[in-house]
Amino acid sequence: MTTSTILITGGAGFIGSHVVRLFVTKYPQYKIVNLDALTYAGNLENLKDIEAAPNYQFEKGDITDEAAMQQLFARYAFDGVIHLAAESHVDRSISDPLQFVKTNVLGTANLLNVARKAWANAFSGKRFYHVSTDEVYGSLGEEGFFTEETAYDPRSPYSASKAASDHFVMAYYHTYHFPVVMSNCSNNYGSHHFPEKLIPLMINNILHKKTLPVYGKGENVRDWLWVEDHAKAIDLIYHTGKEGEKYNVGGFNEWKNIDLVHLLCSIMDKKLGRNEGESASLISYVTDRPGHDLRYAIDATKLTRELGWKPSLQFEEGLEKTVDWYLNNKDWVEHVTSGDYKKYYQAQYEQKS
Ligand code: NAD
Ligand code: DAU
Repeated sequence: MTTSTILITGGAGFIGSHVVRLFVTKYPQYKIVNLDALTYAGNLENLKDIEAAPNYQFEKGDITDEAAMQQLFARYAFDGVIHLAAESHVDRSISDPLQFVKTNVLGTANLLNVARKAWANAFSGKRFYHVSTDEVYGSLGEEGFFTEETAYDPRSPYSASKAASDHFVMAYYHTYHFPVVMSNCSNNYGSHHFPEKLIPLMINNILHKKTLPVYGKGENVRDWLWVEDHAKAIDLIYHTGKEGEKYNVGGFNEWKNIDLVHLLCSIMDKKLGRNEGESASLISYVTDRPGHDLRYAIDATKLTRELGWKPSLQFEEGLEKTVDWYLNNKDWVEHVTSGDYKKYYQAQYEQKS
């Protein structure tokens, strides 16, 4: 018997597919509806292993389309929404900012509004979970951490659009007592990560002995979290987070980009039977990302203290697993690196090298 029907948006993307898989397998009593527009970043191959599950349903649709979202909410009696659909790549936001305004700001506002109306302002037992990013807090210097109280200071079109969407979510809470909960997470890594982002891009380029484009001096710092640990945090926050509150999620795992790229090179030299240092010779320093945030570091103690979450994997172990996944799933990479992505990749990197 179905005890709850949950809409997960962006479930064909990187993090969304891990969240869908976790919910479909862990909660057979729930009906999970995955709504995704299948942009270049959405790939149903990510969910092949669970697509036949009786408690899973895929719906193709666009969160900015008001009529389509109204129809979806009329078709299913959703008890909750976990909202991940977004444009997620900073470099793309620099070349096409309005697409980020459309999807991330308008799309989130539209979804909030459709849900509020569908739930007819009677919110008991309902929950709208907005998945956001640490980038809304801006850039740290050498020291300090982002806490839930850190003032928003977004500095890229992507983070500005996510910050705006966060503000809409909290505005719905304060204005309509809409039952929201939200989290802001650091950089995820793991399987099914689109190879425009640092780690999968480097793995793919090392494999094919292509240049490894490190922006600027490679000294920017990111806090990396195993994507399945993020999915577990989302599960916990969805079920036990306090209404109207936000939770920071992070890996307690800061790495300078250049050190991370060297570590990946050394892991892959061993796995591919290359001489130590062979892959690192492919590193090339390229023009920096405009407005490149120096450092992100999350203080996730609220989530640990109040809800008992902590990351499970050591980074070196997680990176090895990630590399193994890419080496064993070359077809997946081949499929997602054709078409639109190829054109984008050329525009992005041919100018820089
Ligand atoms: P992704 O780009 O891999 O996936 C986004 C998904 O959203 C894709 O499946 C895409 O098809 C879908 N989508 C895009 N526009 C849509 C639309 N208009 N309607 C319906 N679906 C649409 O992104 P990701 O890395 O998995 O990130 C998921 C969410 O988590 C985003 O909201 C992102 O801001 C947030 N986040 C990501 C990270 C990270 O490290 N990747 C960290 C913190 C937070
Ligand atoms: O912090 C959370 C955010 O992490 C998420 O909200 C975003 O959706 C996600 O894309 C990610 O943003 P970043 O900009 O930090 O990730 P990206 O993988 O694009 O870049 C990581 C770092 O590596 C950043 O400092 C830029 C650098 N970089 C990236 C690429 C793609 C390079 O040096 N070379 C590259 O080719």
